[in-house]
Amino acid sequence: MFINHILLENYRNYTSLDINLSNDVNIFYGNNGQGKTNLLEAIFFTVIGKSFRGTKDIDIILSGKEKFSIDISVSDDITESVYIKYNKNKEKYIKVNSLYLRKTGQLMGSILAVIFSPEDMQLISEGPSVRRKFIDIAISQIKPTYYFDLLQYNKILLQKNTLLKNIKYGKSKNYDGMLNVWNEQLSEVGAKIIFERSKIINHLSLVAKEKHLKIAEKSAEREENLKILYNSDISREIMEEYEPEKIKNELFYLFESKSEREIEREMTLYGPHRDDIDFRLDDKDMKKFSSQGQKRTAVLSLKLAELEILKEITGRKPIFLLDDVFSELDDKRQEAFLSEIIDVQTFISCVDIDTFKYNKNNASLFKIKNGSIVL
Ligand SMILES: Nc1ncnc2c1ncn2[C@@H]1O[C@H](COP(=O)(O)OP(=O)(O)OP(=O)(O)O)[C@@H](O)[C@H]1O
Ligand SMILES: [Mg+2]
Repeated sequence: MFINHILLENYRNYTSLDINLSNDVNIFYGNNGQGKTNLLEAIFFTVIGKSFRGTKDIDIILSGKEKFSIDISVSDDITESVYIKYNKNKEKYIKVNSLYLRKTGQLMGSILAVIFSPEDMQLISEGPSVRRKFIDIAISQIKPTYYFDLLQYNKILLQKNTLLKNIKYGKSKNYDGMLNVWNEQLSEVGAKIIFERSKIINHLSLVAKEKHLKIAEKSAEREENLKILYNSDISREIMEEYEPEKIKNELFYLFESKSEREIEREMTLYGPHRDDIDFRLDDKDMKKFSSQGQKRTAVLSLKLAELEILKEITGRKPIFLLDDVFSELDDKRQEAFLSEIIDVQTFISCVDIDTFKYNKNNASLFKIKNGSIVL
């Protein structure tokens, strides 16, 4: 898919932006604080219906204005256009093609994209919630029903946690029966989530390993093997059988056998909301042992793998958004990385166009200054 045209109104520091885009590479360049990331953020807003930076919708409205809107037209077999409007009364309207959506979640899968920004370095060094968010967005794009499973899981989780608390403080009678009902429902939906996550992580691990060898070999002294693993309380043997029913049974057993502990702690201690993803380089935990450069190469490989898997499973070509990543890569890695991006529409932001090694003849260049394109 390609985004042909983008129209922004009162989006962050863009009062009004109206640009035609290239199907190939688009480079947004300019000084710090001018609006490069804002523009990539607006594009990715049409993928997940919110900011990838975690900013609240209300803070995205240009200071002093009542609403913002994003309007893109797309060349794709399924999606022709996406329109999003949000106003100060916290009303969000999303239209895909000519239909308004009832729920934001229905947007999933309309625009397929992978984004890579400097904050993605946190994928390896920070806590597990960043990694869960990454994998959840990736799967939701491939399988939009997954997103609704996640919402349902969180809803049941909240109700079960309230019950655990009430049991502890003696406010609930007949709690055994009720806890059993929540455990049953939670393990059913939880198993679907664990199943999808472990399946895609296995796939990502294989592809990312190949990408990693290609990017790293040009700089590293020796070959290093990247491995990505889903880390859950469900035993690896069960997970590798890829049968949701078996995962469900094990999760249910965990809930039931540890219910005293859960009541004591007033929360659900097992399940996908506690799971993590491990990055290993030559079988060593990257979080503890890897250098900055090694982590960066691993994350780049992961994103390239995500791009390829999205493409392979959906049969559509995702777009690739790269925010300010080349300033951190040496020439060899820049070259190796860029040569892996084939045949997808790409958006790149950078401060200094001259240090950027990409063959600029193929690219559309946009100089950004204070929320406008300048010539
Ligand atoms: N709601 C908003 N209203 C008006 N301006 C905003 C809003 N939110 C952010 N900005 C402005 O947007 C600018 C930051 O834009 P952005 O993050 O896109 O910069 P950038 O070009 O990517 O810079 P860098 O090279 O430092 O990453 C800041 O000047 C900030 O004040
Ligand atoms: Mg930026």
